[in-house]
Amino acid sequence: MADKIRVAVISAGMIANAAHIPAYRHLADRVELVAVSDTNPVSAQQTAERHGIPNWYTDTEQMLREQKPDLVSVCTPNRFHKENTMLALSYGCNVACEKPLALTYADTKEMFDYAGKQGKMLIACQTLRYDRQFSVAREFYDNGELGRIYYSEFSCIRRRGIPKWGTFHKKEMNGGGALCDLGVHLLDAILWIQGCPKFESITGASSACLARKEKDIITSLAESGAPSGVFNARPYAPEEFNVEEFAAGSIRLEGGQFMNFKTSWAVNLPPEFRMNICGDKAGYLVADNKILSTMGRYQVDIEPKIFDEDPLKDEPFSGHFYLMENIVDHLQHDAELFIKPEETLNVAKIIDAFYISAAEGREVKASEFD
Ligand SMILES: NC(=O)c1ccc[n+]([C@@H]2O[C@H](COP(=O)([O-])OP(=O)(O)OC[C@H]3O[C@@H](n4cnc5c(N)ncnc54)[C@H](O)[C@@H]3O)[C@@H](O)[C@H]2O)c1
Repeated sequence: MADKIRVAVISAGMIANAAHIPAYRHLADRVELVAVSDTNPVSAQQTAERHGIPNWYTDTEQMLREQKPDLVSVCTPNRFHKENTMLALSYGCNVACEKPLALTYADTKEMFDYAGKQGKMLIACQTLRYDRQFSVAREFYDNGELGRIYYSEFSCIRRRGIPKWGTFHKKEMNGGGALCDLGVHLLDAILWIQGCPKFESITGASSACLARKEKDIITSLAESGAPSGVFNARPYAPEEFNVEEFAAGSIRLEGGQFMNFKTSWAVNLPPEFRMNICGDKAGYLVADNKILSTMGRYQVDIEPKIFDEDPLKDEPFSGHFYLMENIVDHLQHDAELFIKPEETLNVAKIIDAFYISAAEGREVKASEFD
């Protein structure tokens, strides 16, 4: 694909406006944004006008038929990822779909299988991996500085940060709550940092005891995950809330590795982001940028000097810029994709297994999905 890549975006919400479209515009010499679709005509039209996109639609199939894009971004609520991805693939498009790709592991697998059959690219937008701190951690892992990893943990806690827009709080639309919104990113990143070991089993628990009883708690859009503001804001309706606000679990990975995690939109704990990777040579406290190890007879703490010269560091969704560049490099020059199908499927299986474990109060094994 030597010429400019024709791109269309399905949905005109927060992530389309704040991340996908700006990332494509940044690549204007290699990409042509041809159209946007949204079931809400006002959103579609305003988004097209805001970004100078020449065409807008409320009928996605009509857009695909008329515009014949090479690449499509699927940015709808989770519930509609699969149908829009399958539709775009059936029209011969490559697809970058927001995370999580689908509500179940089975659907995620069906999507990748169909992409393979169509000979097209399908990639999940697990853009957190591009954060500097995570790529540094992965570099330490790759170079053997941490040794054999046998334990890892993350904690991604919002004290009160339920998204106040869209349909994140409805199970039928989002699949789940904090784990599907935040946890999916952190799970993907922490597994990637340690070479993507395969999931073996999980024990998890979830809760939803605050959201439904708190109507007037004050929080900020930034705390809810929309640092650039939202498009299509809707009033938050606590009585609709039917997903988990807090999730915690323990995971066994191949090679005897073990992982603990907790993540929340609302919990009576301090806000926290923590990720620790523990190897037999050293441990890396990713969020604190500190290596714990020994030197001779002494315990040492090492603070790597990371000079952040990232030209996109002020972009709130810079990961999308790097991901779109990787996708364009892949489509035009056959570059290796940064996020592989088997890695996304591994995370999808963990999330599916978590909800079974939380509902049934038991350990769930990966083999149950074969
Ligand atoms: N990668 C990230 O960092 C990140 C961050 C936030 C959200 N997301 C993901 O992006 C997706 C969208 O989130 P958002 O915050 O933009 O939501 P949003 O509510 O702001 O936008 C959703 C848009 O989709 C439209 N829509 C609904 N059904 C549609 C359909 N069938 N066809 C076309 N348009 C449809 C709505 O009208 C709305 O404009 C979710 O999957 C979410 O998990 C990813």
